[in-house]
Amino acid sequence: MKEFRKIGVLTSGGDAPGMNAAIRAVVRAAISSGVEVMGIFKGYSGLIKGDIKPLAIRDVSNIINKGGTFLYSDRCPEFKTEAGMQKAIETCRAFGIDGIVAIGGDGTFRGATDLTAHGIPCVGIPGTIDNDISSTDVTIGFDTAMNTVIELIDKLRDTCESHARCNVVEVMGRGAGDIALNTAIASGATAVFIPEVPFNEEAVFEKIRMSRKLGKRNFIVIVSEGVGSDFAPAIAKKIQENTGVETKFARFAHIVRGGSPTLRDRVLATSMGAYAVDKLLAGESNIVICERNGRIVANDINYALILDRMYKGKLQDGDLDGFDEATVERMRVECQERHAELELLYEVGRRTNL
Ligand code: ADP
Ligand code: F6P
Repeated sequence: MKEFRKIGVLTSGGDAPGMNAAIRAVVRAAISSGVEVMGIFKGYSGLIKGDIKPLAIRDVSNIINKGGTFLYSDRCPEFKTEAGMQKAIETCRAFGIDGIVAIGGDGTFRGATDLTAHGIPCVGIPGTIDNDISSTDVTIGFDTAMNTVIELIDKLRDTCESHARCNVVEVMGRGAGDIALNTAIASGATAVFIPEVPFNEEAVFEKIRMSRKLGKRNFIVIVSEGVGSDFAPAIAKKIQENTGVETKFARFAHIVRGGSPTLRDRVLATSMGAYAVDKLLAGESNIVICERNGRIVANDINYALILDRMYKGKLQDGDLDGFDEATVERMRVECQERHAELELLYEVGRRTNL
């Protein structure tokens, strides 16, 4: 089995609260196993350029509570090219990096799988507020982002109540409605629009008209960005026109990606970071660390990426070719379960407030 003397850690793609806690866990778990850690700055760009520094135990002190990522993040198109990949491999050789823990989203995992294929074993950790990695129940940053959203919505509701207004709020999530749906339920919103569930605009207008007649003063409507970039401001306008209720629009955007991680994200990040190191040092690679039914587990990255495509209805010709029938069936079941969970939550929201 390969002996690991030195591993690298990087964060890539959109940042997420809890990434620092994950880096800290990787550094400390590796050092406690007698392995050195190199911090790779600015994701795969740092790997190409050699922007790398050793990280000692004390270098990751006082970061568990900090948002963002102290290793910085980047989107690096060059890494997708063979020339970029060759430079990254040369850097690994020059710095003696035997393996890498890559924290990020599905793009980051694609990079990690390419790197593994080129001889540098990688393990992925899901760090994204979107919760759009289908192989894990939760991603690092999701909980914090949702808590930030409901804190902001609670404030909006105060002013909506004073002025008898509606406020349409657009939240991030890329193609996933998880942030929108969960925060709509938790903030008692009047309606939510997410890409995964068909919606009826007229039913929302009617609900607002009826509730206003019965004396309701404030209305919160949440829109996931995945519904479409112009949808949220447009629906705000339509609500006002169709209900007579003055309606404002707010796009929370990147504000939801910052801030101190919640306890849930810190513990998740720490558990995943330590587990990633254990797996890498045990000779496992091309895996992504996941939480399934409350347990930290590892999934093959290729499995995770194709599962994602299946869940998002984006399977391409040949995607399933490398998998046996039993594995494909397991993917189908996982997709159905994930859809069913989302729909159940949507239904809970519909029956209680949405
Ligand atoms: P996320 O990891 O949050 O999904 P991106 O999709 O931007 O964010 O991916 C982060 C980085 O991962 C990219 O900038 C690129 O360097 C690398 N990457 C993305 N897709 C691929 C790919 N198909 N092959 C190799 N590297 C990739
Ligand atoms: O993936 C995280 C995320 O914040 C998405 O919610 C959003 O669509 C995207 O990244 C924004 O990307 P950028 O930081 O490049 O504006």
